[in-house]
Amino acid sequence: MPTAIESDIVAEGLLRVQEEVDSLFDAFLSVPEDSRSRLVEAMRYAAIDGGKRIRPLLLVSTAELFGVGRDYAMRAGCAVEAIHVYSLIHDDMPCMDDDALRHGRPTVHLKFDEATAVLAGDALHAMAFEILADPAMSGDPFVRAQLVECLARASGMNGMAGGQMMDMMAEGEEYDLHTITRLQQLKTGALLAASVEMGAILGHVPPEGRGHLRNYARDIGLAFQIADDLLDCEGDEDKAGKALRKDEDQGKATFVSLMGADKAREQANALVEQAIGHLAIYGDEARMLCALARYVVERDR
Ligand code: IPE
Ligand code: IPE
Ligand code: MG
Ligand code: MG
Ligand code: MG
Repeated sequence: MPTAIESDIVAEGLLRVQEEVDSLFDAFLSVPEDSRSRLVEAMRYAAIDGGKRIRPLLLVSTAELFGVGRDYAMRAGCAVEAIHVYSLIHDDMPCMDDDALRHGRPTVHLKFDEATAVLAGDALHAMAFEILADPAMSGDPFVRAQLVECLARASGMNGMAGGQMMDMMAEGEEYDLHTITRLQQLKTGALLAASVEMGAILGHVPPEGRGHLRNYARDIGLAFQIADDLLDCEGDEDKAGKALRKDEDQGKATFVSLMGADKAREQANALVEQAIGHLAIYGDEARMLCALARYVVERDR
């Protein structure tokens, strides 16, 4: 269980990041006065006042360990979040999960239409890389190139999109624990891990110095997904703001269906403690990342 102080740290951290992400998206997404306005309205609808913003908080908290300026870290956080928001727009569409509710509001294809939802996702995807490649991101072109590479790798066939494909194929397949772990590492773990890695890139940490952080990110990525599976079968739909109990209905193997809820919860908690252990060398400086690890499994939405 997180202590009360840890919950406060995360709640405050998320709140601050939510405001910062919203104001950056607001600035990036000014609505043009021509027939593209519908596209940008849909992007704003999906991106502003949205989810928990765990990925940007992970990124800024990692960057802070290395003294990176908050404004730079927030820009990169917004880029990761743009990819996440795009992935959810497409994930909710009829050709994928066919969901009507996200963040307690109608999904983009229902509020607008399917073509607009596809394009809003496409444009958010492009926007993420535009933000990272912009000289305002970092004065160092090598840093910008590494950020672009890291996020591209985490978004594509070896990351989120690959995991989504495995997820689509899961119905009717008998995935074992090993395959489910691989699926989740790609579908969810890759973007969470990229958030941490990008914080380290901004901090000029060379790849060989990122081992502890990578181990931390791998463990919380898996814990995050076990928590998502537990929420899907035990959570409250009003709090989640989306339809739950879909995994079982669709006959999808998850950590919970393969291990049972108790074992899955035990495993998630063990992963969190292991994740925190990897941060020992950073001492008290890493308290937000430690608190976030606990939050990942204790969250109710
Ligand atoms: C939900 O991610 C989808 C998965 C990757 C499992 P989050 O729980 O981070 O979504 P929001 O943005 O906070 O709604
Ligand atoms: C969505 O996973 C993951 C991505 C969009 C990459 P889910 O389909 O399990 O997420 P929810 O349950 O709709 O939020
Ligand atoms: Mg899905
Ligand atoms: Mg879904
Ligand atoms: Mg889910």
